Amino acid sequence: MKFISHQVIYTSKLSSEQKALLDNALSPKYGYEVGLEFESLPYGEGSLSKSIDEETMILHHDKHHKKYFDNMTAILDENPELKKKYSLIELLRNLDEIPKNSREKFKNNAGGHFNHEFYWNLMSPKPQVEPKGDLKEMIDKQFGSFSKFKEEFVQTALDLFGSGWVWLCFDNSGKLRLGPFANQNNPHIEKCGIPLVGCDVWEHAYYLKYKNDREAYVNAWFDVVDWAFPEKILGEIK
Ligand SMILES: [Fe+2]
Repeated sequence: MKFISHQVIYTSKLSSEQKALLDNALSPKYGYEVGLEFESLPYGEGSLSKSIDEETMILHHDKHHKKYFDNMTAILDENPELKKKYSLIELLRNLDEIPKNSREKFKNNAGGHFNHEFYWNLMSPKPQVEPKGDLKEMIDKQFGSFSKFKEEFVQTALDLFGSGWVWLCFDNSGKLRLGPFANQNNPHIEKCGIPLVGCDVWEHAYYLKYKNDREAYVNAWFDVVDWAFPEKILGEIK
């Protein structure tokens, strides 16, 4: 797990112009950064089985996520300057930098890589099952309570037609925003905030165990969400 630091460390040897450049480079508060490598799962494939079965985890990570990663990598290999110049989040937030003929493919597959890496790290075999501190206060203030937030989250997942993600983000006005995002879109791609919590509601995430019962999957998924993860992001970006 790595977070973009927005703490600028000045050294006395830098000119004011260099300091400004450094500040610009480090100040974006983008939260959880995902690298351009394919990582192993941060826990055993069967360790979330009370909510997500081992076979689904293996297929989801080793086949679905890997395919998104490979497709993204193929585009970056054709455009090596992009990889040198930008992080994944910067690419997702500046898709105009991608050659037009592969832009849509890049958005879908790089979005897929970011989202899945986020999703694996958001879950834990030993989760902190409810938010605390600032995040709890914001949820209580905006949604009424954590249980009301959870109801709204599940309903958002049910209302999402077809494949996509439900994201909770810290939006550009400093509030929490909950919303459905089609396909592999996320708050970076749509530039509407910083992702805090994301649930994959593509059928490949749940069909083997839950068949067509998306509601049962999302409810069970809440049992493995580690709220320490979004709390850490919020602490970094606020
Ligand atoms: Fe997925």
